[in-house]
Amino acid sequence: MSRTVAVIVGSLRKDSFNRRIAHELIAVGPDALAFEIVEIRDLALFDQDLEPTPPASWTDFRTKVRAKDAVLFVTPEYNRSMPGVLKNAIDVGSRPPKENVWNGKPAAVISVTPGPTGAFGANHHLRQSMVSLSVPVMPTPEAYIGNAGKLFDESGALTDDRTREQLRKFGQAFAAWIEKSLRD
Ligand code: FNR
Repeated sequence: MSRTVAVIVGSLRKDSFNRRIAHELIAVGPDALAFEIVEIRDLALFDQDLEPTPPASWTDFRTKVRAKDAVLFVTPEYNRSMPGVLKNAIDVGSRPPKENVWNGKPAAVISVTPGPTGAFGANHHLRQSMVSLSVPVMPTPEAYIGNAGKLFDESGALTDDRTREQLRKFGQAFAAWIEKSLRD
């Protein structure tokens, strides 16, 4: 059975390495998964005072994520954590608590950086938030993609076959994780 996956990219940058990796995963991902990037750029900043009459950007985002079977986060690291725009999206989706759109959705995390550390800090801060939102995040394979500036040509195409293969295997494992999580 085909499963739908919301892809959340934690960078708003036009030439984002994370967005490129997200597109590459979508390209090599298994047929069993139908990916769709759900944009976070226009989300109003979370403000609890707005909850009684939430902005359309929040309700649209919540509706889109809720409709998917699973979620894939592809995120950079800012100051050893996830970018504020991604945290904002997570917070928006999490409220009100009884309508937490992330609840129970199988998830996976890929972190991407031009630096050497693979954005480990962002990857794991994101996982920490997911624990409190009852999200089963795929434990392995982990995906810390470092030195991202060396993986693409000038047009933005991925030139590194090992990364492509890593993403292909990651997609397969995620498809299996989704089935296991939805079954258990
Ligand atoms: C960064 N960057 C960065 N990189 C990293 O590996 N660890 C870090 O803690 C940080 N911190 C950080 C803070 C801020 C405010 C910025 C703007 C950048 C560098 C970051 O990885 C780089 O800009 C990436 O290119 C961002 O990902 P995208 O936009 O290419 O997807």
